[in-house]
Amino acid sequence: MDQTAKRKSSHVDIVLKEKVDYIKSTGFEKYEFVHNALPEIDYAEIDPSVELFSHKFTAPIIVSSMTGGFKRAGYINAALAEFCNEKKVGMGVGSQRQALSNDGYLETFKVVRRVARDIFVMGNIGAAQVVNGFAMDNVRRIVDMVEADALAVHLNALQEMIQPEGDRNFRGVVAGISQLVKAIKIPVIVKETGAGIGADAARKLIEAGVSVIDVSGAGGTSWAAIETLRHEEEGRRVGRKFWNWGIPTAEALVQVNAVPMRKKIKLISSGGIRDGIDVAKSIALGADLCAAAQPFLKALNEDGVNGLVKEFDAWMEELKGAMFLTGSKNLRQLRKAKLEKVTA
Ligand SMILES: Cc1cc2nc3c(=O)[nH]c(=O)nc-3n(C[C@H](O)[C@H](O)[C@H](O)COP(=O)(O)O)c2cc1C
Repeated sequence: MDQTAKRKSSHVDIVLKEKVDYIKSTGFEKYEFVHNALPEIDYAEIDPSVELFSHKFTAPIIVSSMTGGFKRAGYINAALAEFCNEKKVGMGVGSQRQALSNDGYLETFKVVRRVARDIFVMGNIGAAQVVNGFAMDNVRRIVDMVEADALAVHLNALQEMIQPEGDRNFRGVVAGISQLVKAIKIPVIVKETGAGIGADAARKLIEAGVSVIDVSGAGGTSWAAIETLRHEEEGRRVGRKFWNWGIPTAEALVQVNAVPMRKKIKLISSGGIRDGIDVAKSIALGADLCAAAQPFLKALNEDGVNGLVKEFDAWMEELKGAMFLTGSKNLRQLRKAKLEKVTA
């Protein structure tokens, strides 16, 4: 395995074996739905499906961008794709940069389309690649590799800052994203990786022409935690100091949803989404879709595709439960459901 493949593999191992969550929460617990004792709907008619990006999703759920680029990642992506295909939800792959320089890793990404022809798939590159200017040819290869319906650019300044080998030059990132938006036909999704996108960053991204923002806020997987655990033996302490750095997901959602040009974009809620009630609250706080990484990786590790299906079915029951008890037949109605900020 080369250095990058080793790093990707150790990220998966650390997430599966260690506690890598933020200590602070997503902030969803600060919001409560107002219970509707008279829902006036039949549970059987509740429909949490949504149509977006010319795809019908059974539920507003995407398996977040995670992996690719080492042998085991091929099995992980195949299983995630099988699950997404069965349940008709979306899927992201992890950063594809490595597969550009080593054909040996192509298959770990391409497998997604072999298993799941029709689902919504997001390609993935890092902000650092966009900063340094991208070769159009490479972007085309990345998109073609997974026949991507959208291309996600991940912002991971926190992770790069903590990695001793990190790419820390983010100068020109917005200009690079703006060029990318103009250069490709499919939607560009800009996502954080757990530290959150707030109002100011969102405004700049919308001005740059980005059509989807995934806030990926704090409260779930902490990349400072993962990199800290990966470099612990080197005695570096900076990662521990930044373990809890970031904008909590609920806060990020509220901020981005209030940006004046909000209607120009679709909004994804991720970072610490752990059940169907988090999904329901995200929708009521303005999200169009939700995404999660760690819970799906863990469910897969525990019981394969069956584990993923069990986890998803539990989320669906919880999401539908919240819809029932707020009298929301569909996501359009759920978006208007009363959600109160708990003050105590
Ligand atoms: C093992 C692992 C690998 C990840 N790799 C990537 C990646 O390559 N590109 C990316 O955009 N995000 C990556 N992420 C970040 C997730 O997409 C997501 O933004 C973050 O984990 C927060 O969601 P969670 O709390 O549900 O895990 C990765 C997450 C995990 C757990």
